Amino acid sequence: MFENLQPAPADKIIALIGLYRADPRPDKVDLGVGVYKDRDGKTPVMRAVREAEKRLLQSQDTKTYLGLAGDTGFNAAMAWLTFGQAADMTRIRAAQAPGGSGALRLVAELLKRTRSDATIWLSDPTWPNHMPVMRGAGLQIREYPYFDAASGTVRFADMLAALSAAKSGDVVLLHGCCHNPTGANLDTAQWAEITDLVVERGLLPFVDIAYQGFGEGLDADAAGLRIMAAKVPEMVVASSCSKNFAVYRDRVGAAMILAKDGAQADVAMGQMLSAARAMYSMPPDHGAAAVRIVLEDAALRADWEAELEEMRLRMLRLRVQFAEALRRQSNSDRFDFVASHRGMFSRLGLSEAQVERLRAEHGVYMVGDSRINVAGLPEDGMEALAKAIVSVLD
Ligand SMILES: Cc1ncc(COP(=O)(O)O)c(C=O)c1O
Repeated sequence: MFENLQPAPADKIIALIGLYRADPRPDKVDLGVGVYKDRDGKTPVMRAVREAEKRLLQSQDTKTYLGLAGDTGFNAAMAWLTFGQAADMTRIRAAQAPGGSGALRLVAELLKRTRSDATIWLSDPTWPNHMPVMRGAGLQIREYPYFDAASGTVRFADMLAALSAAKSGDVVLLHGCCHNPTGANLDTAQWAEITDLVVERGLLPFVDIAYQGFGEGLDADAAGLRIMAAKVPEMVVASSCSKNFAVYRDRVGAAMILAKDGAQADVAMGQMLSAARAMYSMPPDHGAAAVRIVLEDAALRADWEAELEEMRLRMLRLRVQFAEALRRQSNSDRFDFVASHRGMFSRLGLSEAQVERLRAEHGVYMVGDSRINVAGLPEDGMEALAKAIVSVLD
């Protein structure tokens, strides 16, 4: 049976982790893997999550099935966290999913059920997993231009022009905040313009929000999504708690639907849960239960928000320090965009050959497209890192 198989292509980030681990240089720098890291390079369990897990352990007296939508308290809390206090909850439904990736797939399955020839527009570039997840659900894919590597900014006019050619019923996938891999984001005026365009052309917005709280703050990071939700008749959302609750391996996410009215929301939710049944039946409970406990308890929630804010501010500080070091070392403003980008990533605009030289000659590891994880920047080695980067520029 398996003799017909060819080896699957190696995952570039996993290969990079292997090379980094095997590198004996003591001053090596890991800017590759997409997880938040503290000053010591650790990805700790957040205080409020640890406390919630303790409470869960003490209070949980059964592990019987919860149902296809998972933890309903978690779902309600996630809908509020994402759509905000002003949202019309009568039109919104949420289902717990296995991580943000599971939520993306679940929504994609719903789209396939509602429109079998659906085309989804992805940003160019986008998170590399978007394409296989959407293709896996059977959706057609098209891309809209998004990033200008030379200036590190969004190609907004080109993006609008491309989406103006989309057909009514096409789906547009947007990063809610903290665009991965570029770090360049839409401002609220641009969100409003895209909102007008999707309404005018009858497009369905699909917002992937995986870094809420990592950019400008918990509410500010959802501002674009909320501008849209206030105006569009329908919308779908995939959210992830992997980063902002640091529960990566527990697989916590939510798939959400905003429908024209409550009755349509119920039908869409029913179809989405039936798709879940056909894939994995029910999502894992533990992480979502811990997140629910945090979000429902005022003190735990305040502590979570405070720790998340510390993480966000650390990344902002690192951005500014890195941009300043690059300015000094390069004697130019070429990399100033790093300070205005938001989220965990920035794409530096280096060639694959320059990225490879950084790894081989300086022990600096980043993804081939020159995406860096800002949380991995070395607070005490910023000048040396900037010097290494400038040394590979021709
Ligand atoms: C843009 C984007 N969407 C979704 C996800 C989903 O993450 P997870 O499935 O780990 O929750 C990620 C994770 O890296 C991401 O970067």
